[in-house]
Amino acid sequence: MTILLTGSTGFLGGKLLNNLLATTDHTLFVLVRDIEKAKRLVASLSEGADERITILHGDITQPFCGLTKETIQELTEKVDLFYHIAALVKFDEELREELFAVNYGGTEHALELASTLQVKQFIYVSTAYTVGKRTHGVEALYPIDADIHNPYEESKVKSEHLVLSYADQMAVSIFRPSIIVGDSETGEADSEFTLYGFMRALDVFKRRVLRKTDNVETIYHVIGSKDSTSNLVPVNYVADILALAAKKAEAGMIYNITNPSPATNYDLLTMIKNALDFNQLEIIEDVDVQTLTTEEQRLNGMISIFNAYLSRSFHFDDSNTQQLIEGTTIKHLAMSQQTMQMIINAYFDVRVEDIT
Ligand SMILES: NC(=O)c1ccc[n+]([C@@H]2O[C@H](COP(=O)([O-])OP(=O)(O)OC[C@H]3O[C@@H](n4cnc5c(N)ncnc54)[C@H](OP(=O)(O)O)[C@@H]3O)[C@@H](O)[C@H]2O)c1
Repeated sequence: MTILLTGSTGFLGGKLLNNLLATTDHTLFVLVRDIEKAKRLVASLSEGADERITILHGDITQPFCGLTKETIQELTEKVDLFYHIAALVKFDEELREELFAVNYGGTEHALELASTLQVKQFIYVSTAYTVGKRTHGVEALYPIDADIHNPYEESKVKSEHLVLSYADQMAVSIFRPSIIVGDSETGEADSEFTLYGFMRALDVFKRRVLRKTDNVETIYHVIGSKDSTSNLVPVNYVADILALAAKKAEAGMIYNITNPSPATNYDLLTMIKNALDFNQLEIIEDVDVQTLTTEEQRLNGMISIFNAYLSRSFHFDDSNTQQLIEGTTIKHLAMSQQTMQMIINAYFDVRVEDIT
């Protein structure tokens, strides 16, 4: 098989690339905007990786992902499978334009390129949070005008519709991970976003507080719902499923890659407090932010983009994924509290010490 991937220099794409190298003998093309970063990545992989991987310089915000006419001609009818993973994983309203250029425009260009190359199969990595403000996640498209929390979710909802509109040209399928965290064996995570952005914000807050006062009695409240859950999935589980998808994904199908028994926010915050050695954090429910102290308002301001995910539980159906992995070595996810704590500890063990 010949496979083309976008997003291979990122957290999930890097893991998938590694997986495909180790478990298959496929020929791999990686479309990247930063050649030097890609060269470093390839050099860090197993011996002989450079013989199996060809780096293509491109940019998904450009028509045909920025590939030259010559490259397009060379690759036409040669690529069997296109994994479109690249995206901007930020939730801020101020980034709406960029989010749409990268996530929606990027998907449009990836589909246009795949179609021109006459690719047989196209796998799109979306997010389980296209569920938006609903609480029950299904393995089907949500309405294009679904009620969502932020432009990231909106860009992904619209991209999913676009991907399935190409169903008459190639075998398209959509994979939707929930919040991706480190490897379940090593804890390793090359990410600054989602849970990692949240943990970093708490780390920065702790350092600021401890610089100003040595009072370890004061409690700082994080607005959220204690009993609601945060749906975390290890990056190796997601990569294993995506690798399997090359053989087993069905055309037109949507697969939620989610955690069937997610931890509560209370448990998650307790684990982060343990790892951070900062016991002065507590979740508070249904409170007007104005009634909090200035420090608490600052803290909640730093993590406000995560509020939508901390204040409610989502339940995701992952029947299609369960069916996909049936009869394979991939086990349906059952992540223990110890594994979660190990993944969280791993972040704080290796984080940059000098953040201000
Ligand atoms: N992380 C999560 O918790 C999570 C959860 C659910 C779904 N997802 C989805 O999973 C996918 C991968 O996420 P991730 O966490 O691995 O993100 P990531 O670490 O930020 O990686 C994003 C990748 O996209 C590439 N990229 C961004 N803009 C590009 C452009 N204009 N042209 C070419 N490449 C571009 C980046 O290249 P550079 O290395 O050059 O920046 C990088 O390789 C995304 O589609 C995301 O929406 C992620």
